[in-house]
Amino acid sequence: MTSKEIFLNHLAPTSHHPVLLEVESANGIIITDTDGNNYYDLIAGIGVVSVGHNNPFINRAVVEQIQKHSHVMVYGEYIQTAVNSLAKNLASTLPESLATSYFVNSGTEANEGAIKLAKRITGRHKLVAFEKGYHGNTQGSMSISANETKKRSFRPLLPGVSFLRFNNLKDLEQITDEVAAVIIEPIQGDAGVVIASATFMQALRNRCTATGAQLIFDEVQTGFGRTGKMFAFEHYAVIPDILTLAKGLGGGLPIGAFISSHKNMQLLAENPVLGHITTFGGNPVCCSAANAVLKIITEKDFLENVEVKGMLFEQLLQHKEVKSIRRKGLMLAIELENEEKVDKAISLALEHKVIIYWFLSTHSSLRISPPLTISQDEIKDSCNILLDVFGNL
Ligand SMILES: Cc1ncc(COP(=O)(O)O)c(C=O)c1O
Repeated sequence: MTSKEIFLNHLAPTSHHPVLLEVESANGIIITDTDGNNYYDLIAGIGVVSVGHNNPFINRAVVEQIQKHSHVMVYGEYIQTAVNSLAKNLASTLPESLATSYFVNSGTEANEGAIKLAKRITGRHKLVAFEKGYHGNTQGSMSISANETKKRSFRPLLPGVSFLRFNNLKDLEQITDEVAAVIIEPIQGDAGVVIASATFMQALRNRCTATGAQLIFDEVQTGFGRTGKMFAFEHYAVIPDILTLAKGLGGGLPIGAFISSHKNMQLLAENPVLGHITTFGGNPVCCSAANAVLKIITEKDFLENVEVKGMLFEQLLQHKEVKSIRRKGLMLAIELENEEKVDKAISLALEHKVIIYWFLSTHSSLRISPPLTISQDEIKDSCNILLDVFGNL
């Protein structure tokens, strides 16, 4: 059997048109296929590999940890140095009200935990989310994600969820004192980098404070440096009650977190005890990788450079086929005329050995979210190829 036949016969598909790039190795921003072709990876596994593939510093942290110990117990029972360090390091980059982390394995799990926590804090069950938002694919996260086409076949989902228009101040009046939580991506990722206004975010914060609804920021995609700040909420001078992270957190290893105050987090340990449990959450190898990522992205000038590099992409990708660019840091959406042009651009770019990608919920934009470690020369080179691609649409 060829590797393609094994893939198609023995791995469950997510669609009937997978990319089928056969990976041999990956280094920095380059993915090499089994025929020896090198691709510029401008997607980073959808915003995950933020410090580059095969990063020696991450590798060392992983190997050192795995040689000490890997999984020894379910989350929350034993004291493990790597897990402790990550919790402490995160607390030192976050405000006092976000001092306590619960580690899980993915973004959707982080959001599931956040919803459960909000229910315990408030004693309420209603949830408010935003049109075009995406929060994951398990049943709770899917309930608060907007895309009806993707949800329809899985109903019934969670009851009591309503959707407001993003950036619409009037709709915030629908947040009442019956609402347990309002969940929002400060910059909507899969909607195609839709950026909340500061006025809207501040009004949302005020409304949640006034009604007692917990404000959850889903920073699974925007967190950990992607937007040029450690967390996107720093762009707004607004602090959420609960913060969720995943993707870039582990630099390529699977880890997520939901984070809130020490006081709030005690609630999951009582009435009932073991109110949220996970076998693999807080895996020490993943936590070591996350500690290494944190060390790299907090180095002097690293985050400032993310914005500089993002601006370079924006300047270089001016072309008559590009209708607009939405961007924060190295999170970019390139708006083309229509879906057909987006499909053509992505497949032509792949032919020219540059990986760019689709968004889940917007079809007229293409996605660029490279490793944050991409160099200026790599940006220039890959943008030249993309300009050629745009010229052939
Ligand atoms: C904003 C946001 N939240 C949650 C998720 C779900 O994360 P995961 O796929 O790790 O479950 C994603 C994934 O794309 C995301 O972009």
